[in-house]
Amino acid sequence: MAFSLGIILLLVIPAYCTYVGNEVPLGGPPSVCPELGVFAYAHEQACDQFYLCQNGTFSSETCPNGLAFAADGKVVQFCTYPWHVKCGDKTMPDPIPSDQCLWQFGLFPIDDACNSQYFKCAWGIRYVTDCDEGLVYDDTKKACNWPDLLGCNSEGMNRFSL
Ligand SMILES: *[C@@H]1O[C@H](CO)[C@@H](O)[C@H](O)[C@H]1NC(C)=O
Repeated sequence: MAFSLGIILLLVIPAYCTYVGNEVPLGGPPSVCPELGVFAYAHEQACDQFYLCQNGTFSSETCPNGLAFAADGKVVQFCTYPWHVKCGDKTMPDPIPSDQCLWQFGLFPIDDACNSQYFKCAWGIRYVTDCDEGLVYDDTKKACNWPDLLGCNSEGMNRFSL
């Protein structure tokens, strides 16, 4: 009896350790909501959804259109721009355009020229936003960038060559 129990443990323990070592955090609801505090958990499939525990109360949440879940996301609490998130195979929804914005939230170029301003959309309303002085908006980076890296002159208004 002791012999066969030993055999079983020898077989089971390495298999268990291998499983724990290879476990991939795919997200999912917590088994228990902590009683105090606010905690957010990634959704298994949807990059824009998450689970929330607020003082022990569980809820399923969805980021505003155009944002993805991030524990430290601050564009809207627990949500940030998707280019700051590794969504991997997780899904993002289709855009819900307004008359001013393709997505409810996002950054968009004003035109394709070397522009020191860009549109920042929030709740479907676009706001003209300034780059820091001397920079122009680079939509491939979704950030402001040095004009010479984009083929713009230092005033940031015209391209060197067209
Ligand atoms: C959670 O509980 C604390 C202490 O009672 C309270 O200050 C806080 O406002 C609560 N937060 C939420 C999200 O309910």
